[in-house]
Amino acid sequence: MAQDDQFKKLIAHAKEYGYIFQSSEIYDGLSAVYDYGQMGVELKNNIKKYWWDAMVKMNENIVGIDAAIFMHPETWNASGHTSAFNDPLIDNKDSKKRYRADALVEDHIQKYQAKINKDVEKGRKKFGDSFDEKQFLETNPNVIRNKAKIDEIQSRLVKSLEKDDLVELKQIIIDCEIACPVSGSRNWTDVRQFNLMFETQLGSTADGASKIYLRPETAQGIFVNYLNVQKTGRMKLPFGIAQIGKAFRNEIVARQFIFRMREFEQMEMQFFVKPGTEMEWLEHWREVRINWHKAMGLPEEKYRFHKHDKLAHYANAAYDIEFEFPFGFKELEGIHSRTDFDLSQHQKFSGKKIQYYDPESGESFVPYVVETSIGLDRTFLTILSACLKEEELTKENGESDTRVVLQIPPALAPIKLAVLPLIKKDGLPEKAREIIDELKFDFTCQYDEKDSIGRRYRRQDAIGTPYCVTIDHKTLEDNAVTIRDRDTMKQERVQITELSKIVDDKVSMKKLLKKIY
Ligand code: GAP
Repeated sequence: MAQDDQFKKLIAHAKEYGYIFQSSEIYDGLSAVYDYGQMGVELKNNIKKYWWDAMVKMNENIVGIDAAIFMHPETWNASGHTSAFNDPLIDNKDSKKRYRADALVEDHIQKYQAKINKDVEKGRKKFGDSFDEKQFLETNPNVIRNKAKIDEIQSRLVKSLEKDDLVELKQIIIDCEIACPVSGSRNWTDVRQFNLMFETQLGSTADGASKIYLRPETAQGIFVNYLNVQKTGRMKLPFGIAQIGKAFRNEIVARQFIFRMREFEQMEMQFFVKPGTEMEWLEHWREVRINWHKAMGLPEEKYRFHKHDKLAHYANAAYDIEFEFPFGFKELEGIHSRTDFDLSQHQKFSGKKIQYYDPESGESFVPYVVETSIGLDRTFLTILSACLKEEELTKENGESDTRVVLQIPPALAPIKLAVLPLIKKDGLPEKAREIIDELKFDFTCQYDEKDSIGRRYRRQDAIGTPYCVTIDHKTLEDNAVTIRDRDTMKQERVQITELSKIVDDKVSMKKLLKKIY
């Protein structure tokens, strides 16, 4: 299936089964803003718990906070967001559509990469088993020409962004003959910088309201609380502060469903260390964070690291963890060595001393910071995109059939157990309720008595429920039920008293955490 179709199916599935709805859909929606439905909120809560437990519960030297979304406006002058948190934008005069200039160039580069991939595929078909991809990439004239083109454009793009050279950025678009995808014309405006922060007013205008911002990252709430937490928690370096919360960015290129939203959630941890030890800690967190992802059990080849060549003004080293979304490899998490930039800036702008006294050396200094910053919504999308499968089944009578199954890691599944009375009478519903009343303290359960048992299984497969339990007439005599596994579809007869252990073995988050620590 083409990737585009696959992605459309995913979006439709997310809506049909209560995972994600467009915000204010009855008013035709709000662009790049989404609501999480009855299943989505459960999955989101489970991801948050998995992250929180992995960062805070598993590490004695990491504590959490929950800072406000509104912050003193000076925060954003100190952090550099008022002056430097910009996207370079360009408008097409014919279609009146606005684009991120760097994204237009990057999409253009992708076209050359697609040509290279096509040539590789052709080569593979032509030479069969004897095909040597490395040699082909190094010697094929088409590939060499396209690769040189990519390198040339890429290098110009990086230089123009580094120097904030908007004239050169427009020149690249002109030289590459990039046309507007909507109008097809090359009638472009100049490139301008556009700040991504949302503004609002604190207090009524008559009172002399002041302009404040919706935070574009949760990290600053941690930095401004560094002293509070360090002192009240008697924290010793190295230590971390973790936070989960909403962030807001007025994204211009807001496409690709929940990948790039205007209101989204981040899970961030700032790890404060002694200057000079930051590279060791960067490596440490790089390993822990990739293990956190891999412990979920999504295909390992879908993850890769990207080392930043162009560093943000505050960083001295940075990696992204990228994931292969249905639209290609894209950033999922950033692990950045942010030096003492943020704390020093807050020290300067607030006039308050933000330092750590090291009792061993007798010195005071501004700690360095290693940050791990992951998008909750993007993590959600990795799970949906890697776990939604359409399987071909062969029925007992030889006919083929398909089922749609969401193979969410069981520990994160919204519903852990569906309890299904075979029919709606003869005391079977009552027995089913009895089981739920016992198990609901430990697991999110769902009761379903509508439709044939086959259709109910399919519904639970589509939601991603790891286990279904069926109550039949024999249950009333022998206290045993049929338990069906989502992934293998195997059915087994087990005693009701065994259920709790069976389900717990499968859905416990402890197993995931033990893979990391
Ligand atoms: N404190 C560092 C920071 O905010 P970032 O790379 O801008 O760094 C961190 O954002 C993570 O937040 C990204 O890796 C991504 O997962 C998520 N993120 C950023 N912008 C987003 C958006 N518009 N929609 C959804 N997730 C976003």
